[in-house]
Amino acid sequence: MRATEATDQGTLGEAIAARLADLATISDEPDRLTRLYLSPAHRKAADLVAGWMREAGMTTRIDAMASVIGRLEASDGGTKTLLIGSHIDTVRDAGRFDGTLGVVTAIEVIKAAHQAGKRFPFAIEVIAFGDEEGVRFDSTLGGSKALAGKFDTKALDETGDDGVSRHQALIAFGCDPSRLPEAAVSPQHILGYVEVHIEQGPVLEKEGLPVGIVTAINGVTRAAVEIDGVAGHAGTVPMPMRKDALAASAEMLLAIEARGRAQQNLVATVGKLDVPGSAVNTIPGRVCFTLDVRSPSDQKRVRAVAEIRQSLEAIARRRGCALQVAIGHEAAAAICNEQLSDRLAAAVEDLGITPRRLPSGAGHDAMAFDKIIPFGMLFVRCRGGVSHNPDEYASPADIDIAARVLLNFLERIGSQ
Ligand code: GLV
Ligand code: MN
Ligand code: MN
Repeated sequence: MRATEATDQGTLGEAIAARLADLATISDEPDRLTRLYLSPAHRKAADLVAGWMREAGMTTRIDAMASVIGRLEASDGGTKTLLIGSHIDTVRDAGRFDGTLGVVTAIEVIKAAHQAGKRFPFAIEVIAFGDEEGVRFDSTLGGSKALAGKFDTKALDETGDDGVSRHQALIAFGCDPSRLPEAAVSPQHILGYVEVHIEQGPVLEKEGLPVGIVTAINGVTRAAVEIDGVAGHAGTVPMPMRKDALAASAEMLLAIEARGRAQQNLVATVGKLDVPGSAVNTIPGRVCFTLDVRSPSDQKRVRAVAEIRQSLEAIARRRGCALQVAIGHEAAAAICNEQLSDRLAAAVEDLGITPRRLPSGAGHDAMAFDKIIPFGMLFVRCRGGVSHNPDEYASPADIDIAARVLLNFLERIGSQ
């Protein structure tokens, strides 16, 4: 049987979709999909995925940052390894395809190859990263940075909303953070890193294409902003005497939005805002919010962040509030490797599909390998371009095409 032929259970795309549905039942919250890094749901998902990897013929391990790694050995004589990965953590109230699609597609493609008795002249490691969304801690891409040998151990002290540090959460998960250096790969032994991911945007759908090849990933700066005013009685403090941290924040949010709108190829978002201890009859004394600025141009992004900081400082000063802006995650725009991208494009063309190239507005684990390991990405069309939303959807037919492209790509790399 050829590796991608439909089986009694249906197509590879249908098998992948069924496993994505299984994975989507594993959540930290009862009525919606939320699977944060190192949470109990992450642990359960990691175990499920590791079982699927073993069933696909791989040996498995979980590294010091909780990345699940399945390994298929090379055919005789192969000394290099190809990495294929994506993530199994999610945002809050997530869809079932972001990240998990790439992990499950890789596993099912390896399983099909394994069942067809196929081996490649290189080893393959399929990696399910757990810290891509960066929802729990300030910094993100911990798993992929550890593999790239550039995880900053200061990030072990970061704490999430529950007061638990990354270090403590790793230990509770069953990992040993002191073994972090062992997670790093030797770049000279790695052929490259490849990731299949839903597009999370509308381009492929608009152009009627099931898949596309990523050219580059936008750079990003994330920051935690804190505004301290003075809490007071909502009935007694006259309006001119107030230092209302929430009213100051409202002005800041609009300034951030205006700066994002002022330039093409730049986006600026406040995705989370907390008013600790808020009450109907209290003037808010403290507000914390997040900032996320992205652009394909690092220069534009850095300048926008500096200007946003100046605007926030001016607003805080005028309103008598204190301001702190702490940068939590920063990644430069990352360019995909030409050779890997060309092979993905050739594999797409083999299926009679126009190999559309497009940039990624969203961040991905692949960014962590920038300038360390060559990387390439394949995007899969998603309905309406919707993502970070339970309505996220990619069809089994499109997923099947992505799986066939990935297998064809592996064969091309093997025959190079
Ligand atoms: C991850 O989805 C990100 O781009 O923030
Ligand atoms: Mn993702
Ligand atoms: Mn995401």
